[in-house]
Amino acid sequence: MSDPSPWWRDAVIYQVYPRSYADADGDGVGDIAGIRARLPHLADLGVDAIWMSPWYPSPMADAGYDVADFRDIDPVFGTLAEAEALIAESHALGIRMIVDIVPNHISSAHPWFQAALASPAAPERDYFWFRPGRGPDGAGMPTDWRGEFGGTAWTRVDDGAWYLHLFTPEQPDLNWDHPGVRAEFESILRFWFDRGVDGIRIDSAALLFKDPALPEVVDGRPHPFHDLDEVHSVYRAWRRIADSYGGDRALIGEVWMPSVERFAAYLRPDELHAAFNFDFLGCAWDPALMRACVDRTLDAHAAVGAPPTWVLSNHDVTRHVTRYGRTDTTFSFDNNLDGTPVDLELGTRRARAAALLSLSLPGATYIYQGEELGLWENENIPPAEFQDPMWGRRGHSRDGCRVPLPWSGSEPPFGFSSATPWLPQPPEWKDRTVQAQTGDPASMLELYREAIALRRAEPALHHTAMTWLDVQPAVLAYTRGADFACVVNMSGAAVALPGHESLLLSSGPLDGDLLPPDTAVWLRRQT
Ligand code: GLC
Repeated sequence: MSDPSPWWRDAVIYQVYPRSYADADGDGVGDIAGIRARLPHLADLGVDAIWMSPWYPSPMADAGYDVADFRDIDPVFGTLAEAEALIAESHALGIRMIVDIVPNHISSAHPWFQAALASPAAPERDYFWFRPGRGPDGAGMPTDWRGEFGGTAWTRVDDGAWYLHLFTPEQPDLNWDHPGVRAEFESILRFWFDRGVDGIRIDSAALLFKDPALPEVVDGRPHPFHDLDEVHSVYRAWRRIADSYGGDRALIGEVWMPSVERFAAYLRPDELHAAFNFDFLGCAWDPALMRACVDRTLDAHAAVGAPPTWVLSNHDVTRHVTRYGRTDTTFSFDNNLDGTPVDLELGTRRARAAALLSLSLPGATYIYQGEELGLWENENIPPAEFQDPMWGRRGHSRDGCRVPLPWSGSEPPFGFSSATPWLPQPPEWKDRTVQAQTGDPASMLELYREAIALRRAEPALHHTAMTWLDVQPAVLAYTRGADFACVVNMSGAAVALPGHESLLLSSGPLDGDLLPPDTAVWLRRQT
């Protein structure tokens, strides 16, 4: 019998981006030995699980999301034995492990693609989308599809055929109509479940299938490569595999989807357990928008009985201290090349309030490494140092949110490495290191530690519904259980706190009995 309230329904899950967590071997790139040495940080923070971004052998054309072998570890990160040791050590600390699987595409260095390139007659061609070109000499791309990173989605090989890649040319798309592709990924899932992992994060989960007629993308017609119905049969099969293992293994999808109904379909009881809430991540710091987003999220998940997730940042988007500090408040994924002013003090205050919000809404909460330190986007990386392939294709780089963590000391590399880190750290992070913040009750790190500890101990925050409190519209206030309340002041002016018995936690200083703007509190209500 599986647990009626399993861990993934309300876990705090911490995303480790292995290139940037901690470097033990001194090459400027993070590694598994670094993660093992710094595991106590995650135990002190009190997280329930780690989601590990890809650590597999890879030419790193897309920072590891171009996987050449799903059953091993890239030497830059370490060995499979070290990965197994990390899983065991995390479990010993009560921390579960989620690994990242990338089913839409593999690396062009993968043996399947290499075999497919070797001959037009190779059976491995059928694992991919090889097509003749258009026009008399086949020199025109098979379709005008734009890739997910911008740019074209097809590349021509020496024998004249074209292959599809929705991301970079080094990430050829797999043909999910081929039973061999299905079988391979089912076997990969088992490989990691057999090694004790507790969950799988599924990259680009809605892309897998393509309309074989290859129609052009036309608004109002079914999309030829997003969210095709066949994808659900894959996740039903994966769910059966997950369920066949004990210990509540979870499948968590990266599902970007404008339609709430289509999104929820991935979370039906026989499909994925959870999916990232990009609606919330993309929501501006605006009370009406935020309240509507929370309601939409709760409704969509209630319809299928799935737990909502609350996500503020990840390795693909501008860090939220920076986003919330943009005075125009419009949300943007971009790296601000147009120079919209950023008020980091305001962004930090809002990020502190957002921490209490995201950690007290019903469901699971995701923390992107460095968020607990209040890191902001490094918007000062010289373009010549950009490593992200998206930069070349869309004129936007995700490197600013991937900068190595500051652990200690007063200047870069801040204890991350003994060498120069693979991306530059802002010197101002001297106040944001783990060392500088530990023990400082006003720090972001201590706020996260305290909030997570309170959340863990607070029965009202587990498996209870939330109810909005009737206060002024620009203040988000809700109760959980019998006597817990969270109040977030987004009104721009100080407001009176609703009646309460005690103050449990505050994201910033109160002004007497007033809650200042962009500040949140957790309260014990009078019963
Ligand atoms: C996902 C990942 C992103 C990657 C892309 C292609 O969106 O989060 O980092 O570049 O998929 O795999």
